[in-house]
Amino acid sequence: MLERLPPAPADPILGLSEAFARDPRPDKINLSVGVYQDEEGRTPVLECVKRAQRRLLEGEETKSYLAIDGLASFRQLVPRLVLGHIVPVELTATVQTPGGTAALRVAAELIRRHFPDARIWCSEPTWANHPNVFQAAGLEVRYYTYADPTGVMLDFDGLVCSLDRARPGDVVCLHACCHNPTGLDLEPGQWRVLAERLRERSLLPLVDFAYQGFAEGLVEDATGIRELVRAGLEILIASSFSKNFGLYAERVGALTLVAQTSEAVQAAVSQVKAVIRSNYSNPPKHGGAIVATVLADEELTQIWEREVEQMRERIQRMRELFVATLAAKGVTKDFSFLLRQRGMFSYSGLSLAAVERLRTEYGIYIVGSGRINVAGMRTATMDRLCTAIAAVLEN
Ligand SMILES: Cc1ncc(COP(=O)(O)O)c(C=O)c1O
Repeated sequence: MLERLPPAPADPILGLSEAFARDPRPDKINLSVGVYQDEEGRTPVLECVKRAQRRLLEGEETKSYLAIDGLASFRQLVPRLVLGHIVPVELTATVQTPGGTAALRVAAELIRRHFPDARIWCSEPTWANHPNVFQAAGLEVRYYTYADPTGVMLDFDGLVCSLDRARPGDVVCLHACCHNPTGLDLEPGQWRVLAERLRERSLLPLVDFAYQGFAEGLVEDATGIRELVRAGLEILIASSFSKNFGLYAERVGALTLVAQTSEAVQAAVSQVKAVIRSNYSNPPKHGGAIVATVLADEELTQIWEREVEQMRERIQRMRELFVATLAAKGVTKDFSFLLRQRGMFSYSGLSLAAVERLRTEYGIYIVGSGRINVAGMRTATMDRLCTAIAAVLEN
């Protein structure tokens, strides 16, 4: 039977990374893959993580299974990080998942099992894996307007209008902050309007929170979620700790539910556990234990907050340096929109032809859509990057 299987199409972004790895040019630059890099081009292990790991190594007594929903300390600490104190504890429940991807998948399976008529609405554009994950769980994916045709401006009226096409009971996947791929986020007032619209139309928000701390701050970045809570909505939140803890390979994330009664939240989380049991059974321990160790300890939390701040500020500096260097190279195309976008990603507005020339002639790797990982930029290589972009834009 296996002989009859055709090869699956390659993942477009990971395929680019493979091509990058094979490229022999020593001055090649990778702005395609979605990982944070520091000024030396490394994706470092955070200091708070190293310290937490030392403690874990000394104190660990067993490798026995975790519960289906993960570590108890993790489940208590994560909702405080995500929601602060605006929701009574008994109205929330969190399960530890293998990365944000699994949180999204578990949420999608929960919806599919219990609300088979619900469709899920994704932003146009969205993270390429959203439709994959949701369709794999059996959900029908629809799209709401998000960016204008250039991809560099938010189309909020379009967003609100396109949700008129949703049916009551449909699910709306929202990016809490640092929208991937556009870097365009909603203002607090827009979140309030959106929350009201979701409530009026009985739509369930599934909020993807993969970049908490990368836009403005750990607390500030939860503004949108808090507006949804204030509007009295039920919410599903898929957190990822891949970026803000640098724990990509450890696979740690969380699915948090907010309901209106403790009975509802308890029943819902029991169904979430039933979904998990038939999927990966229970989550891996190490990443969750690191996150819980850091969040439970004041000193480690402070170190972590500083490290998140440093990553966020470096990304912002790269945005500013990139725009200034392009201008200094005489590029007349206006790139100042990059300064209003937030997080690791931005749509650069570069055409497919420009992207291809950058790769073939200059060894600069950017996703075909023009999405760039700003966190892959470095002061040391900025001049070369902008010289190349100036050259391809000139022709
Ligand atoms: C928008 C978005 N959601 C979810 C994820 C998944 O994160 P994880 O690696 O924790 O599964 C990513 C990772 O790139 C992402 O960009």
